[in-house]
Amino acid sequence: MKIVETLSDLRAQISAWRAQQLRIAFAPTMGNLHQGHLSLVQRAQSIADKVVVSVFVNPLQFDDKADLQAYPRTLQQDIQQLSDTRCDLLFMPTAELIYPNGMAVQTKVVVPGVDDRLCGKMRPGHFDGVATVVTKLFNLVHPDVALFGEKDYQQLVMIRRMVDDLNLMIDIVAVPTCREQDGLAMSSRNRYLSAAERAIAPQLHQCLLQLGQALQSGASDWSQVIQAGVQQLQTAGFTPEYLEICRANDLQQAIAGTDSQLRLLAAARLGQARLIDNIACDLA
Ligand code: PAJ
Repeated sequence: MKIVETLSDLRAQISAWRAQQLRIAFAPTMGNLHQGHLSLVQRAQSIADKVVVSVFVNPLQFDDKADLQAYPRTLQQDIQQLSDTRCDLLFMPTAELIYPNGMAVQTKVVVPGVDDRLCGKMRPGHFDGVATVVTKLFNLVHPDVALFGEKDYQQLVMIRRMVDDLNLMIDIVAVPTCREQDGLAMSSRNRYLSAAERAIAPQLHQCLLQLGQALQSGASDWSQVIQAGVQQLQTAGFTPEYLEICRANDLQQAIAGTDSQLRLLAAARLGQARLIDNIACDLA
């Protein structure tokens, strides 16, 4: 695996592959890789000739400085895992390389209608930071296809919108959420859980599955099933941030009796960790 840290090295390799008409797939990450990230690489290998991964803890998408500082950085392990997975190129830029003029004067990409909902409501500026860095990385890597995990479903929907709105010539591929055996969605943030919290954590996924079952069996009062779910999470020891039934394509609030392609999404705090999860629910 080639590791590049400068724009000129990145451009040289990408140009060489382009000259050979190779199809390039790209998976942006913030490192601290686990099987969820590696599943993006594996999927990428099945649809492209060359796979590029970036590891960059993007300061622009953190609304909380302490959260940015505490973000786990495990570069040596990440390099090992990517090279074992036979990733072709790892791009590891510094913040100075990505934001040479500083973040305060950085031109931003804003995807309206995303910020004010779900995770956007709780994390002001977060999605602008993601849209901006992903656009910059797209312009540097020039991929034919880019892969994103369904684990961060709101991020995936936003990137699809952005690519569509800005006429970017990049196919976006969604990769299903990788879970631990007990259903907990794999996440870098799971390391913040104590042993006792780790035992409780899978209940977030179970709560979503139960909500899905209630909708499938015809529950018509959706606010009541949501309320029951929130209470269930509280009883288990979570502090829920949201539990919502949304339209799968644009994440607007779904309407009972009208919408059928749904996404059920939840975020909840458990001790030091903020956990998110979501599942599909098709009522058609
Ligand atoms: P990060 O949290 O490192 O995630 C990188 C990619 O891995 C995202 O597309 C995310 O959805 C995917 N991913 C994480 N956990 C997963 C799991 N359990 N199963 C499947 N896919 C999973 O998301 C980001 O970084 C950043 O916002 C980024 C897009 C890199 C921009 O900075």
